Amino acid sequence: MCGIVGYIGPRDAADICLAGLKRLEYRGYDSAGIATVDEGELHLRKVVGKLVNLEEVLQQEPLVGAPGIGHTRWATHGKPSKTNSHPHISTNGRIAVVHNGIIENYGQLRQQLTAEGYKFVSETDTEVMPHLVEKYYEGDLREAVRRAVGDLKGAFAFGVICADSPNELVAVRRFSPLVVGLGDGENYIASDMGAIRQETDKVYVIDDDELALITRDDVELTDLALNPIAREVFEIPWPAEAAQKAGHKHFMHKEIHEQPDAMHSCLAGRLSSPEAPLVLEGLQMSEQEIKDLRKVVFTACGTAYHAGMVGRFMMENLARVPAEVDLAAELRTRDPVVLDNTLAVVISQSGETADTLVALRDLREKGARVVSVLNVVDSSIARESDGVVYIQAGPEIGVASTKAYSLQVLTMAMIALHFAEVRGTADPATIRSLKEALLAVPDQSQELLDREEDVKAVAQHYYQMPNSLFLGRGINLPSAMEGALKLKEISYVHAEGYSAGEMKHGPIALVEPNLFTVAIAVAGEVYEKMIGNMQEIKARSGPVIGVANDGDDVIGDECDDMIWVPPCPELVSPITIAIPLQLLAYHIADLRGEHIDQPRNLAKTVTVE
Ligand code: G6P
Repeated sequence: MCGIVGYIGPRDAADICLAGLKRLEYRGYDSAGIATVDEGELHLRKVVGKLVNLEEVLQQEPLVGAPGIGHTRWATHGKPSKTNSHPHISTNGRIAVVHNGIIENYGQLRQQLTAEGYKFVSETDTEVMPHLVEKYYEGDLREAVRRAVGDLKGAFAFGVICADSPNELVAVRRFSPLVVGLGDGENYIASDMGAIRQETDKVYVIDDDELALITRDDVELTDLALNPIAREVFEIPWPAEAAQKAGHKHFMHKEIHEQPDAMHSCLAGRLSSPEAPLVLEGLQMSEQEIKDLRKVVFTACGTAYHAGMVGRFMMENLARVPAEVDLAAELRTRDPVVLDNTLAVVISQSGETADTLVALRDLREKGARVVSVLNVVDSSIARESDGVVYIQAGPEIGVASTKAYSLQVLTMAMIALHFAEVRGTADPATIRSLKEALLAVPDQSQELLDREEDVKAVAQHYYQMPNSLFLGRGINLPSAMEGALKLKEISYVHAEGYSAGEMKHGPIALVEPNLFTVAIAVAGEVYEKMIGNMQEIKARSGPVIGVANDGDDVIGDECDDMIWVPPCPELVSPITIAIPLQLLAYHIADLRGEHIDQPRNLAKTVTVE
C-alpha cells in the first residue's frame, strides 16, 4: 500500500503534491519522492524516511513546474531506500511513474526489457512501468501507457508524466484506488479523496481498467480500448479537516472499512482462481521441505496470537501436521521440544514486538526454520526469519488491530491450504471449495460492512452493560477471544473470550441480566453444541447476541439480538466473523465516548519484554 498524488495546472506541482502526500502518509512512510516537468525537462527529488525529510530537501532544492507526481511508499518489493523509492524513471530519463499496487509479472518483464537494452536501477516491481512506457512512446503518452498496461498482471494505480508531453498527466487503475480531482484550470490525481480535499470537493472516482488523460482544462476518461466513459462528478461530503481519516471519525473505523481492498491485495498474485495452485514465494520452502515437516509451532502476541490459534487449527485440519500455538511471552518458559523439520510461524503486524522476537530467536536456536507473517516490511522479525509472507494490509494506525487480524487469518488459510496441496492431505474438491471461499472473502466482507447499521443498533442495546462474555468453539474459539479483546481494549467493558464448552466450568456463574453474551454459532460441526450453550445462558436470564448465518431460522428463538453473516465453509468463517465483532466493539466504545484510536495504557507496538 502506497500513496500517489499528481497535479497539472499553473502552480508548482511540488507544493500541491507535498501537501497531498502529507494527507496520504497513513498509506506508507518509508520513503517518498516527487517529480515535475519544467521547461522540457524532468526534475526529481527522493528521500528515505518520512515526509519531513522530503520537505527539508525541497526547502534546500525547490522543485518548480507542472505537471508533477508524488509518492509515499510502503515497501513491498525491495527495502526502503532512495533508489527503490518512487517516482521511477525511464532509461532515457524522460518519463516518471508513481505506482500503488503490485505488478505480479515484473520478473519476466524485467528480463525482457533488460534484454532489449532498458536499464534497471531499483529492486522494485514498479520500475518495469517507466521502461515499458518509454518502449511504447511515439509522441502520445496516453497510448504508451495504454499499451504498457496491456503487458501487466497485478494491481495498480499509476500516475505518469513525460518531459516530451508537458501538457499531460496520465493515470490508470486496476484494483488499487484512484480518484481524479477537478479544479478550475487545474486538475489532480490521488489515491484517495482526502489527499486533495483541501484543493477541491469534486472528483471522478476511477474504476478498474479505466484510463484518464488529464490536462489543465480537461479530463478525458476512457476504458483501455479508448471508448469514452461518462462519469458523474462525485462531491466529497466531508470537510477538508477530516481528510486524513477520509471522512471516518477514527482510524480504527477507517481501517475496518479498508478490509475488502486489503484482502484483494493480500490475495493478489497468490490465489488467482480455484483451479490454480497457491503461490507463496515468501515462504522460501521447497515442496520437499513442506512434505518433510514434522511439526509447526505458531507464536505471537495479542491479536496476532489469535490469528495463530486459527492457523494451528487450519494447519492440523488441512495439512495434517502436528501443530502448536503459544503466546510468545510464554514460549520460553515452556522450553518447547523442537524436532527435526519443525517450522515456526511467527505472526506480527509490526515485526517489532519484543516478546515475539525473543520467541523467534529461541525457536531458531533450537533448530526450527522460521517463517514470519508480517505487515511492516524490513522489520527486526523480518530480518531474522528464513522466509516472510507479507499480509499487505498497509499501515495500521489504530492501536486496536483490525485489518491486520483478518489478513493474518487469510494468510494462515493460504499457508495451510498450500501445505495441504503439496502434501496431498486434503481432497481436491475440498481444496477447490476452500479456494472459492477465500476468493469470495473480500466481497463478503464488503457485504458485512454494508450492514454496519444493524451492528450499531445491537451496540445501542448493550453499550451500558459493564460485563460481557464472548463464546465460540473449534475454529471460532479464537474469533470469540479476539472479539472480547477488541471490546475490552477500546471500551474498557469487561469482556471474556471463552470456549463455549468450558463455560459450564466457571463463567456461567457470572451470567445475570447485566452481562451480555456474544455467541458465535455459524453453520458447521459445533453449531448444535453452541445452541445448547446459548440455551443454558438464556435459562439464567442472560441476554444473548447470536452471530449466525443468513437464512438460519432456528437460532433467532434462542437470542435477544442477532448479527447475521453470509454463509461460508466453517474453516474460513473466522475471517469474515471478525468484521462485525470489530464493528460491535467500535460502536460500543464510541457510544461510551472513549478515545478509540488511543486507548488508555496500550501501545501499538510493544518493544519491551
Ligand atoms: C500490542 C498491540 C496489539 C497487537 C500486539 C502484537 O499489544 O496493541 O494490537 O496485537 O501488540 O503486536 P504485533 O505488532 O506483534 O502484531
